[in-house]
Amino acid sequence: MTTKQKVFCGNLLFTPEFGRLELLKQALMIVDDNGMISAVIQQDDEKYEQIRTEAKQAGILQEFLAEQYLLPGFVDLHIHASQWPQAGIALDDPLNVWLDECTFPLESKYQDLDFAREVYNDLVEQLLARATTTAVYFATQHLEASYELAKISAQKGQRAFVGKVVMDNPKQTPDFYRDKDSQSAIADTKEFIRRVKQLGKDVKQGVYPVITPRFVPSCTDETLAALGKLAQETDAYVQTHCSEGQWEHDYVLERFGKRDTEVLADFGLLKRKSIMDHCNFVNEADGELFAKKQAAIAHCPISNAYFANGVLQAKRLHKQGVKVGLGTDISGGFSPSLYDNIKQCVMSSRMLEDGVDVDLPAQQRGKKDSRLSVLEAFYLATKGGGQAVCLPLGSFEAGQICDFQVLDPTVAANKLPGLNIFKRPVDILAKLLYLSTPANIKEVWVQGQRVK
Ligand code: GUN
Ligand code: FE
Repeated sequence: MTTKQKVFCGNLLFTPEFGRLELLKQALMIVDDNGMISAVIQQDDEKYEQIRTEAKQAGILQEFLAEQYLLPGFVDLHIHASQWPQAGIALDDPLNVWLDECTFPLESKYQDLDFAREVYNDLVEQLLARATTTAVYFATQHLEASYELAKISAQKGQRAFVGKVVMDNPKQTPDFYRDKDSQSAIADTKEFIRRVKQLGKDVKQGVYPVITPRFVPSCTDETLAALGKLAQETDAYVQTHCSEGQWEHDYVLERFGKRDTEVLADFGLLKRKSIMDHCNFVNEADGELFAKKQAAIAHCPISNAYFANGVLQAKRLHKQGVKVGLGTDISGGFSPSLYDNIKQCVMSSRMLEDGVDVDLPAQQRGKKDSRLSVLEAFYLATKGGGQAVCLPLGSFEAGQICDFQVLDPTVAANKLPGLNIFKRPVDILAKLLYLSTPANIKEVWVQGQRVK
């Protein structure tokens, strides 16, 4: 046992597969110097006592209390960092009006780097306090401010995927907030990728550049083609909004005579490292294309309740073999918390399954087999998110990256009721997910390092 290793001893609660929960009581999680889990040793293992004693003697044992639980850190697959000041505001307009009247004016402010730093510092801290250990960010159109976000998350210990937003279509963007032209949008994206890759060389938990056309409406054909070529020629990640709501979906059909998924695929933007946001209007054939290309979907259930005009058929897509994770979509979604999105994911799926219009007969009201349990939604927020970003994240198994949160259900500020009555692991998990607040999140660790 080397002094560079760490050994954590605590109650591990995680979902190694969709629909399967593990609770390993007072297990030992051995973590190497790179922040990777090398082994998980259970109490009934014959080596348990010896490993524990040796770790204690070497001063590398970190013990958590019997009433605390370690859960994997959360992956927020889709968040507009720049929209954080606007969270909770202006949610009553349709998406295109909300973009034009609120969002573009706010995002245009990020040419001011001091403003950008203030917002981004606050946001990353708020996310870490809510156990978002990995975030996939949209920044803004500005190269410098987007790079600030990458530096700030790197410095605060959060794993980040960051995109400089590309939006050059004069017909769908305002004069005060647009890439100058296609050439400069592509040149800035290339420079951004170069800088973030350089930065990432010294960042233990990782910081990655993301090719980020805002969505098809904001971009010219020339730019979509150039970004798709870049996506195919490099190993950079890609993110964009896809078939989010009725307006976007219809706009793309009208402009190209094809569905959003097909358009993005034809431009080369749908690949293994692509994260497509929302995707509410993705039909079965689109789902097959997603599965074939190994592209992932960021399901943003709170935002979708406001802007999507529908509910994502997440269960069907999961069954089709599409990678699905969860996103907050700040500020289409008002909450920075994956806890809140796990709950909304469950609730929206139940409404999708049962239907909402009681004037229809019960059998015609909903979409059968759509419900997701809280355990399944938890999977999406952890291991599902890890698969979407193509990293071994979100579970406590050998070979996974060690990101976790320490939850204490006994804190005075928010003592959770009934835990000594409801003792099945699935009940403990449900209780923790439905009722915890940031007060219960005592510690957060990313890649084996404490960040909160
Ligand atoms: N589509 C294009 N831009 C945006 C955005 O900022 N938020 C959401 N929810 N959808 C978008
Ligand atoms: Fe979004």
